[in-house]
Amino acid sequence: MKGLILSGGKGTRLRPLTYTSAKQLVPVANKPVLFYAIEAIVAAGIAEIGIVVGETREEIRAAVGDGSRFGARVTYLEQDAPRGLAHAVMIAEEFMAGSPFVMYLGDNLIAGGITGLVDEFRALHGRGACSSEILLAEVPHPEQFGVAELTPEGKVHRLVEKPKEPKSNLALVGVYMFDKTIFESVHRIKPSARGELEITDAIQDLIDRGLQVHPHIVRGWWKDTGKLEDMLEANRIVLEGLDAGLPGTVGKGSRIEGRVELGEGVELIDSLVRGPVVIGAGTRLENTFVGPYTSIGPRCTLVCCEVENSIILQDSEIRDVPLRIDGSLIGRNVRITKTDFKPKAYRFMLGDNSEVGIT
Ligand code: TTP
Repeated sequence: MKGLILSGGKGTRLRPLTYTSAKQLVPVANKPVLFYAIEAIVAAGIAEIGIVVGETREEIRAAVGDGSRFGARVTYLEQDAPRGLAHAVMIAEEFMAGSPFVMYLGDNLIAGGITGLVDEFRALHGRGACSSEILLAEVPHPEQFGVAELTPEGKVHRLVEKPKEPKSNLALVGVYMFDKTIFESVHRIKPSARGELEITDAIQDLIDRGLQVHPHIVRGWWKDTGKLEDMLEANRIVLEGLDAGLPGTVGKGSRIEGRVELGEGVELIDSLVRGPVVIGAGTRLENTFVGPYTSIGPRCTLVCCEVENSIILQDSEIRDVPLRIDGSLIGRNVRITKTDFKPKAYRFMLGDNSEVGIT
C-alpha cells in the first residue's frame, strides 16, 4: 500500500496563523500535526507517501524533506488550488500507479494510530470483501461533518456532506482507505455547491456502482485540528499521554509538578511548572506559572506571567501580564508586554482576523 496525506487547503478557520504558516505545521505538544500523520502511516508499514501541497508547499517541504527521517519516501503532489478532497485524490492517480492507499487528512489526529485499520483493510481487500474502508465516529454535531447512513445490517448506504438535518450521528473521520476504483469515481462526480469535488460524493459513487465500502466505527478519540478549540483539545489529549520527562535546569526558587518535558537549555527562575506541559529548547521562564495542558515552543521568554491550557509557538515573548493567559494559541515571534504609558489602555497590533478575548 501507499500513503496520501492532504496538506494543501486554505485553513480559513485558523486565521491569522494560516496567513503566514501552514495549519498542518501548527504544533501539538511541540510537534507539527502533520508529523503525527506521517508517523502513523509509517508505523502501519507504509513507506511510500505522497503529500498533496498547495500555497504552503515550500514550508511543508522544508519541514518534512524527503521523508527519510521518518523512515519514509515522500513525493510532493502539487494541487493548483484547494478544489476539494476528491480533487486531491484525482491528482494522486499517477503516483498511486494502481496501488491501494490510505488517505490521511494532514490536520487530523487519531488515537492509537492506524495500524489496526490498515491491517483490517489489507485483509478485507485481499479477499475481495471491499474496495474501500471509511472511518466513522459518533459526534454531537453531525451537521458540521460528512455524515454516513448505515443499513440495519451495518452497510454504508448513503453519505452526505454537512447535512442540515443529519439522519445519523456518524461523522467521517479524516482517514480513508481506497483501491484504484476510487479514481473512476473522482472523475465521474461534479463540483458541489461550494465548488469543491467532495470525497463524500466520490464514495457515494462507489456505493452506487455496487462496490463495497466497509465502515469502521472508531471508539477512541480523533480530532480535526482545523479550529482553535479543537487544536487546544488535541494538545490536551496528547499532553495527557506524556511520559514524565527528565528535569532540565530547575534554577533557584523554581518547582516542577507532574509530567513536564523540558527541552535542552530551558531555564526556570522563580517559576512553577505544573504538568502536563512541554517546553521547547532554550526557553526561559522567570517569575512565571505555567499551568496544565500548555505547550511552549523553543526560544520563548516568559517573565512575570501565568499561562495555562495554551499553545505558544517559537520565539515569542510574554512579559508582565497581570491576568492569566488561558485557552490561547499564540503564533511565532509574538510580543505581549505591559507598558506604563498613559492613558491606561489596551494597545494592540493584530493581524487581520486576529481574535482577542478580554474576560
Ligand atoms: P479542510 O479542513 O476541510 O479545509 P481547509 O484546509 O481549506 O480549511 P478551512 O475549512 O479552515 O478553510 O481540509 C482538510 C485537510 O485536507 C487539510 O489538511 C487541508 C487538506 N486539503 C487539501 O490538501 N486540498 C484541498 O483541496 C482541500 C479542500 C483540503
